[in-house]
Amino acid sequence: MIRATTRSDLRDAIASFGPTRTRTGLVPTMGYLHEGHLSLIDLVRESCDVTVVSIFVNPLQFGPGEDLDRYPRDLERDATLAAGRGTDVLFVPAREVMYPAGEVEVFVDAPRLADRLCGAFRPGHFRGVLTVVAKLLNLARPDVAAFGQKDYQQLALIRRMVRDLDVPVEILAGPIIREPDGLAMSSRNVYLDGDERRDARVLNRALTDAQAAYAAGTRDAADLVRIVRERLDTAERVSTQYVELVGPEDLEPVATAFDGAVLAIAVHVGATRLIDNRTLREAE
Ligand code: PAJ
Repeated sequence: MIRATTRSDLRDAIASFGPTRTRTGLVPTMGYLHEGHLSLIDLVRESCDVTVVSIFVNPLQFGPGEDLDRYPRDLERDATLAAGRGTDVLFVPAREVMYPAGEVEVFVDAPRLADRLCGAFRPGHFRGVLTVVAKLLNLARPDVAAFGQKDYQQLALIRRMVRDLDVPVEILAGPIIREPDGLAMSSRNVYLDGDERRDARVLNRALTDAQAAYAAGTRDAADLVRIVRERLDTAERVSTQYVELVGPEDLEPVATAFDGAVLAIAVHVGATRLIDNRTLREAE
């Protein structure tokens, strides 16, 4: 695995695989890798000759008072994990490499999609995500880029950016990878103490209850939302930020559930904000 820290390193590293290995895939991450990230590396490797993983904790997507400074980092462990899954190039740019001009003047944004759900509670977050993803795509110029369904709104926004701006890349989506007890893997799970970690199991359980009700015939979105909220309320340390049933692409709230509609939730467990979602299916 080649490590690259500058823009020219990255271009040289990708070019070093020569003209016979032509299809490049990118997995953008903020590091502290777990099986969710690694599954995206596997997904890219299925169809690509060269796999690039980026690790960059992007200041532009953190709000004031969020966890930018204490976001977990362990580059050597990440490098070992990424190499173990067959990563060819690990791109770890410093802040000055990604933002050489300091402040950004030109952003990618999609206010109608970005200011709802998580965006309503994290103003400017998705503008920061879309802008850095656009930059990473321009720097690595991959044929394919992979994102997880865990961050459903992020995935929907990136798909829309690619469509609306004719970005020449194919977007792959990986399923949500979970711990054995159902908690969706996240770099932020390390913030949870023992009691919080136990309470956090309720996110997936609440979504599973709602999926079961949907499969049994419940179609009223308000009923499904109520099932989720009531289950979340049973956990002492969990406070709900939102529970919404939305369309898979436009992220608009839906009144009547259908196959493919997405039940999305955000909660705080203690001080830690966690998200999860489930795409409803009549038969799983
Ligand atoms: P990060 O949170 O590190 O996640 C990197 C990628 O891993 C994202 O596509 C995310 O959806 C995916 N991922 C995280 N947890 C997952 C899980 N449990 N199962 C499946 N996939 C999972 O998302 C970001 O970083 C940033 O916003 C980024 C896109 C890198 C832009 O800065």
